[in-house]
Amino acid sequence: MFTKLTTPQELFHYKLGAALKMENTVLEMPGDHEKTAQQSQLKKQFRQHAQETKRQIRNLEKAFSELGEEPDDSPCPAIEGIEKEGKANIKKSDDSVVDAVILAGAAETEHHEIAVYEGLITEAEAMGQREIVRLLKENLEQEEHTLEEVKEATRELAQQQFAAA
Ligand SMILES: [Fe+2]
Ligand SMILES: [Fe+2]
Repeated sequence: MFTKLTTPQELFHYKLGAALKMENTVLEMPGDHEKTAQQSQLKKQFRQHAQETKRQIRNLEKAFSELGEEPDDSPCPAIEGIEKEGKANIKKSDDSVVDAVILAGAAETEHHEIAVYEGLITEAEAMGQREIVRLLKENLEQEEHTLEEVKEATRELAQQQFAAA
């Protein structure tokens, strides 16, 4: 990979690699979440988003081939940090509160993914890479939809838990 980024094209290529690393990391997370989550609805949502994540990885690989490049990942310490914090908090939490912990981690993940795709889309648009824009927008829409579901589940859970407390 690059030792130093010297052009906006190289920077885009590098950040596309970080997005690939991000999705590959995320792909391993819902499996853990599915096992840990207490509510069946939540388990189902994580299973569905894992399927979407596989498709998002394929879209990123296609974006690389649109650039005429081999898919190549770049470091993404941000997503690893979110994962690390989530795992540590899950370990600390009782079953009665673990779903709130999982949902908070999921919201943080989706916000990060959304920011990554918005940035890449802006640059792909400026480069006139219409197919890449289309592929990345498909990913962005799935993340936005997932974030809405996570927010809704968080609201419902918070209302139940604080009403019972
Ligand atoms: Fe994703
Ligand atoms: Fe996501």
